[in-house]
Amino acid sequence: TRDSEQGLRTPIVAVLGHVDHGKTSLLDKIRGSTVIEGEAGAITQHIGATAIPLDVVSKVAGSLIDPSDFDLPGLLFIDTPGHHSFTTLRSRGGALADIAILVVDVNDGFQPQTLEAISILKQSQTPFVVAANKIDTIPGWKPNEDAPVQQTKEAQSDRANSKLDEELYEIIGELSDEGFSADMYWRVQDFRGNIGVVPVSAETGEGIPDLLTVLMGLAQRYMKEDMAIDVTGPGAGTVLEVKEEKGFGTTLDVVLYDGTIREDETIVVGGLDEPIVTDVRAILKPRPLAEIRTEDRFEKVEEIAAASGVKIAAPDLGKAMAGAPVRVVRDRDIEEVIAEVRAELSEIEVQTQEQGVVVKADTLGSLEAIANAMDEAEIPIMRAEVGDVAPRDISVASTANEDKHKTILAFNVDVLADAERKVEETDVKVFESGVIYRLIEEYEEYVEELER
Ligand code: GTP
Ligand code: MG
Repeated sequence: TRDSEQGLRTPIVAVLGHVDHGKTSLLDKIRGSTVIEGEAGAITQHIGATAIPLDVVSKVAGSLIDPSDFDLPGLLFIDTPGHHSFTTLRSRGGALADIAILVVDVNDGFQPQTLEAISILKQSQTPFVVAANKIDTIPGWKPNEDAPVQQTKEAQSDRANSKLDEELYEIIGELSDEGFSADMYWRVQDFRGNIGVVPVSAETGEGIPDLLTVLMGLAQRYMKEDMAIDVTGPGAGTVLEVKEEKGFGTTLDVVLYDGTIREDETIVVGGLDEPIVTDVRAILKPRPLAEIRTEDRFEKVEEIAAASGVKIAAPDLGKAMAGAPVRVVRDRDIEEVIAEVRAELSEIEVQTQEQGVVVKADTLGSLEAIANAMDEAEIPIMRAEVGDVAPRDISVASTANEDKHKTILAFNVDVLADAERKVEETDVKVFESGVIYRLIEEYEEYVEELER
C-alpha cells in the first residue's frame, strides 16, 4: 500500500508580528505548555513549528466549532521571532505558509515589523487574520478566562468596550491604509477579500476560541483543495533552521509540506555552494503538542508525512541553508532532483554587481527581502550570502574601490569573533540590525556623512 494515496494535509499557519506583541504567548496559550518560561529573556530565539490536532482545536474552540464540519487534520503553527522579519520562507516559489496570523498589540497598534510583515503577506498573497492581542490590558477590563469574544465583550463596562472598539477601529484603519478592506471578524463574510480582526488575550485566553474557529474555517472553506496531496509521495520541505544537536551533529529543522520522508532515504538540500546530497540517518519528531525548539527528547520515527515540523539528522549538513528546499529523491532520477533544487535556489539568487556592499542574512528568504529593498534604494550589492559575518567577508568588503562599498550589511546574523578582530585591522564598516529598513537607513546615513 505504498502506492499513491490522496489525503488532506494540515494547513501551515505562520504567526507574525512586531516584537513582544504576543506571538509566542498566543501559541503557548493554545498549546497549554510553558515554552515562554523556558526562553532566555522571553524572546523567541528560533523558529519553531507546533502541530495542533483537530481535537485540540475543537476543545479550545468549544461551542464555536463542530469538529464534524471539518476533515482537515488540524493546524500547523510556525512561530517567528519578532526580530526575524523573514517569512519569505518559500515552498516551490510560493509562500511556505498557507495562512498567517498577524499579531498586533491593541494598545501599541502598528509598528515597524507589523508593516514589514504586511508587505511580505501582500507580496506572497498569503491570506491572513489579525489577532488584536492583549485586550485584557484595556483599562477596566474584567477578564473571563478562555471565553469567546462576544461573550466577554457583553460582560464589560461600556467604557472598557468603547475603549476596545476605539483601538480596534484604529487597527482596521491602519489595514485600510495598507490597502486591505478589514472589519471585526464577526462581520466578515468573505475572508479572502476581507481581513477579519479577532480581539484576543494570550494571557486570559479570551478570544482564542474565535481565532481558532476563524483559522479552521478559512482553511476548510477556501484551502481544502490545496491541502489535497499525495500523502505517500516523495517528501518536499523547507529548512527552517540548521542546528547542532548533541549526539546527532548538524541537523535540519524542516517543515515538510508535501509527501513523506523515511529513514535511510536520499535527500537533496540547498547548500551554501552546491546542493547537498545525503542520506537521512534519523527522523526526529517532537512529541505531539511540543515545540521543536524546546523539545530535548525527540521521538525517532521511521517515516513522517506532511504537513509537519520535523528534525532531520544526516551527514554533511554543515553548509545547509535556512530557507532552502529539501527534497526526497526516492524512485526519481537523482540528477533531476538536484536540478530541481538548483532551479529553486536560482530563483532566489540576488543580482550582484562588480562594485557594491556585502550582505549577510540568516535565511534565503530574508536575503531576498533585503536584496529587493536594496534594489529599490539603488544600493548595489557585490556579494550576498546566508550565514554569519566571517573573516572572509571582511576581506571581500575591504577590496571595494570606494569607502561607501567597504561595508557589510548584516541582517539577523552574528559577527564571528575572528571577523570582529579583522574589522579592527581594516577600514570595513559593519551594520547590524533585525529590521530591514533600519539597516538601509543606517547605511544611507553613513553614506551621506561620507559625502559631506
Ligand atoms: P518576540 O518573539 O520577541 O517577537 O515576542 P512575541 O511576539 O513572541 O511576544 P511574547 O509572547 O514573548 O510576549 C511578550 C510579552 O507580552 C510577554 O511579557 C507576555 O507575557 C506579554 N503578553 C503577551 N500576550 C499578552 C496578553 O494578551 N496580555 C498581557 N497582559 N500580556 C501579554
Ligand atoms: Mg516570540
